[in-house]
Amino acid sequence: MSEKPVRPAERTGASPEAIRSHYDMGNDFFRLVLDPEMIYSCALFEGDDDLATAQRRKLDHHIHAAGAADTARVLDIGCGWGAMLRRLVDHAGVAHAVGLTLSPSQAQWIRDSGNPKIEVREQDWRDHKPERRYDAIISVGAFEHFVQKGLDPTAKLDVYREFFAYCDSVLATGGRLSLQTIAYSERHKVLPLLEKTFPESDLPLEWEPIAAAEGRFSLIAARNDADHYYRTLMMWEQNLLANYDKAVALVGEACAAEFRRYLKLSATGFRMGMVSLMRYSFRKKY
Ligand SMILES: C[S@@+](CC[C@H](N)C(=O)[O-])C[C@H]1O[C@@H](n2cnc3c(N)ncnc32)[C@H](O)[C@@H]1O
Repeated sequence: MSEKPVRPAERTGASPEAIRSHYDMGNDFFRLVLDPEMIYSCALFEGDDDLATAQRRKLDHHIHAAGAADTARVLDIGCGWGAMLRRLVDHAGVAHAVGLTLSPSQAQWIRDSGNPKIEVREQDWRDHKPERRYDAIISVGAFEHFVQKGLDPTAKLDVYREFFAYCDSVLATGGRLSLQTIAYSERHKVLPLLEKTFPESDLPLEWEPIAAAEGRFSLIAARNDADHYYRTLMMWEQNLLANYDKAVALVGEACAAEFRRYLKLSATGFRMGMVSLMRYSFRKKY
């Protein structure tokens, strides 16, 4: 199948340039803030888990929810620095894991690990047309970028429908999709900093992914772990503060301060219930 890139006029989500403006701040910077596996999404805590343990628990949650263990081919849409891909092939018995990212520095980081069971593509999911279907799909923390700000509610839902239609088209019969995204818990309550930190991106409302999946996928589970994102963000902030001088040396005072504000403001949003952290699992219908 051909892999024709999406032309800007057709694009409905954040552009590669917008994605790069955030995710290519530098691997060394993110290394100061995130856990050693460089996981940049909400963790899943139990008891007094530390960040690395809670992040691993989150990976395993999605692997279980997607029924991905011991399968031949798994797709990770928005694979970041590849922690899920590594978990799939190194610990979950998956033969081949494919990750999509729009960030060249993330893709390079994954390629540098040289794992023959992992394939990374610098590609929008709309352009990824695999030769064979996947047994499971996982997408964590990328859905937030699939819609640009300013789309009317119908057009926005159409983009989400396009995503589920895409997943349907590349997933084997009976396959499952595990999806994690931040969502607005109330319409019209928009975090002001999001636009600056994540340009061109908009969040779904909690119910929109469920509505958009209708007809193609059955909902298995949906949960809101907003308090887990509050905890994750506080831990990232602690890491940033512990390494603040190094962070300033890498990205400059203004950028480091802006990043800290984003962490604090997002944490407040989750704590106050303005934003939710949704983990959905779906089964392809037929
Ligand atoms: C917040 S990071 C999450 C990364 C990873 N899943 C994790 O949990 O650490 C979002 C990821 O989504 C990717 N992304 C955003 N829009 C995308 C698109 N349209 N197609 C493919 N990847 C996309 C970004 O490049 C980035 O890797």
